[in-house]
Amino acid sequence: MEIDFVRSRFIKHFDGKTGNVYASPGRINLIGEHTDYNGGFVFPGAVDKGVMAEMRANGTEDTVMAYAIDLKDRVDFKLSDPAGPRASWARYIYGIALEMKKLGVPVKGFNIAFAGDVPLGAGMSSSAAMESCFACGLNDIFGDNKVSQWDMVLAGQATEHNYCGVNCGIMDQFASVFGKAGCLMRLDCRSREFEYFPFKPDGYRLVLLDSVVKHQLAGSPYNDRRNSCENVVKHIQAKHPEGKFETLRDCTWEQLDEVRAEVGEEDYKRARFVLGEKDRVLAVCDALNEGDYEKVGELMYQTHEGLSKDYEVSCEELDFLNDIAKECGVTGSRIMGGGFGGCTINLVRNDLYRQFIATAKQKFNEKYGHEPKVYDVVIGDGSRKLC
Ligand code: GLA
Repeated sequence: MEIDFVRSRFIKHFDGKTGNVYASPGRINLIGEHTDYNGGFVFPGAVDKGVMAEMRANGTEDTVMAYAIDLKDRVDFKLSDPAGPRASWARYIYGIALEMKKLGVPVKGFNIAFAGDVPLGAGMSSSAAMESCFACGLNDIFGDNKVSQWDMVLAGQATEHNYCGVNCGIMDQFASVFGKAGCLMRLDCRSREFEYFPFKPDGYRLVLLDSVVKHQLAGSPYNDRRNSCENVVKHIQAKHPEGKFETLRDCTWEQLDEVRAEVGEEDYKRARFVLGEKDRVLAVCDALNEGDYEKVGELMYQTHEGLSKDYEVSCEELDFLNDIAKECGVTGSRIMGGGFGGCTINLVRNDLYRQFIATAKQKFNEKYGHEPKVYDVVIGDGSRKLC
């Protein structure tokens, strides 16, 4: 995406003046799905696609004039309006501005125009890209860049919780803020310690296949999964009052088995997936350190199986893409992100790549009447000021 593209719209739709331009990426996640809000590990990286915004203080006390370039939609609102704007995209701006104010940034009225090239609803966190991009801009324009990167991550997450109805974890905002070109990051979501992992799999590449089935995380299915996990933790805590159980991270397989009958099969299976996934992230790290990509791939298939059968966040189209990957001899493949549509992430040997993509396009098209979209993964940098 070009700065000039965003700038020309900013000039045209407001008062002709220019502002500052900020960019934040979407993310991929190699492994560690639905583990973030369970205090586990995740393994994301930022991508070279994201959101770009031009922003400028407009001299008013609290009027925001916002233009969504891709949607050609203009919304003006006041930060003091307790209801906030109705348009879902504008709620990200409203939410992050209020969250940054809570962090002590004296946000006043501003103009903003933004555009994105991270596909919406593909499970690549277009919403986190917006939150961290806007947070980065507000921190720079009004806050002297005093808010730390972690606080911006948390402000993005709080925006989802408080204004958008998604009770998400911290993976997406973390990846968008902290991303580094060429590196995946292993994050311990409980302690918030993380490590950069240079990722250059010799002889392999990562490719996303987008089913173009849209998911809707707001409302229920995502939050339901989280509630199931928390319910299991509550039961384990009640059985073991001497211990301290905050998340499934603190629970063992034996403890989970003890509460199986009382929590019911659905919650039991969901928690079973999370415990397995927690171990798989660490196993993937070991395999990467040894350069054992076949092992990494095997673990990715296990994750898909768990997300599909136990966690129940897959859908027919994603299972179909996963089956095609298996049939083509692809090293690893799984649903990526929250689920309920979106992409599979595939670790493919270079020599199989063309054949795999051609087969996936053809078979998917035969069955669903359209081809999946193909995104080659390029691991890019996190949130930054461009000019
Ligand atoms: C969404 C959420 C994240 C995470 C993933 C699943 O992307 O925003 O916090 O829970 O789903 O791993």
